[in-house]
Amino acid sequence: MSASLREFGPQIWVAEGPVVSFFRFAYPTRMAVIRLSDGGLFAWSPIALSPPLKAEVDALGPVRFLVSPNKLHNLYLGDWKAAYPNAQLFAAPGLRRRRKDLGFDGDLGDAPDSAWAADIDQVLLRGSWAMTEVVFFHHASGAAIFADLIQNFPRNWFKGWRAALARYAGIVAPHPGAPRDWRSSFLDRRAARAALARILAWPIERALIAHGDPAATDGGAFVRGAFAWLARP
Ligand SMILES: [Fe+2]
Repeated sequence: MSASLREFGPQIWVAEGPVVSFFRFAYPTRMAVIRLSDGGLFAWSPIALSPPLKAEVDALGPVRFLVSPNKLHNLYLGDWKAAYPNAQLFAAPGLRRRRKDLGFDGDLGDAPDSAWAADIDQVLLRGSWAMTEVVFFHHASGAAIFADLIQNFPRNWFKGWRAALARYAGIVAPHPGAPRDWRSSFLDRRAARAALARILAWPIERALIAHGDPAATDGGAFVRGAFAWLARP
């Protein structure tokens, strides 16, 4: 039995990482590994790299790309780059400035890099002054992939005042979404809605997220619901 990696769909696996503290909230973490058509691996939002996880990743193929979906998801990029010096490290918008210690090989833009465009599409969800996340879509699995834009904590994950605050923030099942304060930073609604339209045009079958329960089925409805805050005028 696999200790770390779990199949999420065709040619895509997830691994659950340790819980990290974010403004003293306990955040479970999750990464994805996609095997591209040429056999190389695309590692999305890498979590802590334990020896068992590394062994399972290595069994899937050679790690070619290390990708941070937004500037906050950067804690383990250095460890992965050290373990996989031949992999190319790609920065989300704003990350280079935040992590000057990391040697990046490329930047994530509003279109997929030619190295993975055959397998994965991507969109910058623009319009926020606070943070721009890169949203990915993996064609083979129909998986749309979100880091912090959709959070879906189980109802009993947080306790006490944190539970109340998380519900107010809009990140608790059955009402997943981006945290309310981040939503309010999307002042350029026109840009954000244009990006969302591109996302919703994907044939989404499942939705993979970093924090909380992903949607293994009915991904399109899940994503649409999670972005109701943005779709409405
Ligand atoms: Fe996050």
